[in-house]
Amino acid sequence: MNTNQVHIFDTTLRDGEQVPGCKLDTKQKVIIAKQLELLGVDVIEAGFPVSSPGDFKSVVEIGKTVKDVVVCGLTRAVMNDIDVAAEALKSAARPRIHTGIGVSDSHIQYKLRTTPDKIIERAVAAVKHAKTYVEDVEFYAEDAGRADNEFLARVIQAVVDAGATVLNIPDTTGYCLPQEYGEKIAYLRDNVNGIHNCILSTHCHNDLGLATANSIAGAQNGARQIECTINGIGERAGNTSLEEVVMIMRQHPALGLYTNVNSKLLLETSHMVSESMGMMVQPNKAIVGDNAFAHSSGIHQDGVIKRRDTYEIIDPAEVGVDQSKIVLTARSGRAALAYRFKNLGYNLTKVQLDEVYQEFLSIADAKKEVEDSDLEQLMKGVAA
Ligand code: KIV
Ligand code: ZN
Repeated sequence: MNTNQVHIFDTTLRDGEQVPGCKLDTKQKVIIAKQLELLGVDVIEAGFPVSSPGDFKSVVEIGKTVKDVVVCGLTRAVMNDIDVAAEALKSAARPRIHTGIGVSDSHIQYKLRTTPDKIIERAVAAVKHAKTYVEDVEFYAEDAGRADNEFLARVIQAVVDAGATVLNIPDTTGYCLPQEYGEKIAYLRDNVNGIHNCILSTHCHNDLGLATANSIAGAQNGARQIECTINGIGERAGNTSLEEVVMIMRQHPALGLYTNVNSKLLLETSHMVSESMGMMVQPNKAIVGDNAFAHSSGIHQDGVIKRRDTYEIIDPAEVGVDQSKIVLTARSGRAALAYRFKNLGYNLTKVQLDEVYQEFLSIADAKKEVEDSDLEQLMKGVAA
């Protein structure tokens, strides 16, 4: 693979939906899948078909509905899982089977109670079986983040030889540091024969808050697919956040990486996922949080009113946010107050502004945020 396009593999409906208490029905999943297609993702992981009849049905329905995007079903390296996934994907225009097995010592010894050689045998058998159904087979090396790189390269070499074309290197426990994860991807890029005809994929979890940094480090070292979820949802601390990696690539053209995502739909998509899952987005969440473009301290407000990019590195319109917010609090200065009055149609003179400012501060100290209705009230006391 010799292009600078980074494919966006959205797993909101599979890994994302593993959030405790967040269950989507098939209808909701199809609506989200259509939105993801509109957003411009390259792959939708629609579910884990063998896990439940509901998930099977969701994969079937998404495969029937979504035609411009690869639709993917997850399996373990278990023949029946693969048979069931193939059945669920039968109507998909661009089906992908995503199969894999644990590769770290802890997975091999304690979870799977087997040997490294047997892991390779099972991985190869799974890929070959999946290949009897579909051309597009992705292999995941679960817990690759904590696996020995030499063994990992042996596994990846074996599955590439067996026909896998996308190689997913998950940091399942969110353990890696960005440099370490980047080096892992580079090691595979440099030590697996035939890898250049395949796509290396990142799949990072956020247990140490490093999922986004690790995914970008992976892309800088040759990965050309990033697995992520809207709002970064997922088990425990979640997955890599789609909106973050997309905007990092946009805001840093020097990386030389791009995606096909229409960033103007990011906020709308974030709201859709948050509402249908009943899972709020933290206000300070990068890109899509309520406060991502809100300014409340006087120093910042003064700067941003004079010139937006003094304190904003992203034009809010680029991610579908109408405009930045100037929030009035006890930390706000006269510039912000005048700006908000102006938005309400009042052009205050300097004297008038001085007159209301002290009273404004008293209200702001008493309340957390001063609203337009408070400003209207203040205006009543201002001498014409
Ligand atoms: O985190 C992980 O390792 C996964 C795999 C099943 C792809 O989600
Ligand atoms: Zn995962």
